[in-house]
Amino acid sequence: MEEKTLEEIKKECSGCMKCPLGKTRTNLVFGIGNPNAKLMFVGEAPGQNEDLSGIPFVGAAGKLFDKYLGAVGIDRNDVYITNILKCRPPQNRDPLPEEEDACIGYLREQVAAISPDIIVCLGRIAAMRLIKPDFKITKEHGIFVRRGKYEICAVYHPSALLRDPVKKDDMLSDMIMISKKYRALPK
Ligand code: URA
Repeated sequence: MEEKTLEEIKKECSGCMKCPLGKTRTNLVFGIGNPNAKLMFVGEAPGQNEDLSGIPFVGAAGKLFDKYLGAVGIDRNDVYITNILKCRPPQNRDPLPEEEDACIGYLREQVAAISPDIIVCLGRIAAMRLIKPDFKITKEHGIFVRRGKYEICAVYHPSALLRDPVKKDDMLSDMIMISKKYRALPK
């Protein structure tokens, strides 16, 4: 079967009312970046700045994440960035399982369209959904596993680093390791 293009998936997603977050969103936050990215980052759900702009990771957490990308020499425009949920949960609460269930098909289609080599979960919520339900971010961050044709790992969510700067050293080592793996991919 022909994969859908990102534009086709975005169009389907744009009027989505599969869960109640469709009613409260200002903008859908579909994802941004290179449609042929070899490296894809998946966060949890849009926050207020993302809801207002329609772009993932543009608030304080996003700015910190950009610093890590810069520090390891990865250009934001070369990768693809999205979230498990495409709409903001009220007061930035954790996504509900039924919201994830309603939305996850869009992420699957995005992954199929982009076909990255490496997927990096930003935080525990994405890791629990994409790696395993009992994922322990403090123990298992930075460890790659293979899922089908994808190499996948998780790093701390940038918001967790803002709350607990002690985790920043681990984040930098994980991002260095990821950038090496990324650069070692065949051109
Ligand atoms: N946190 C996320 O998980 N995703 C965003 O897009 C912004 C903040």
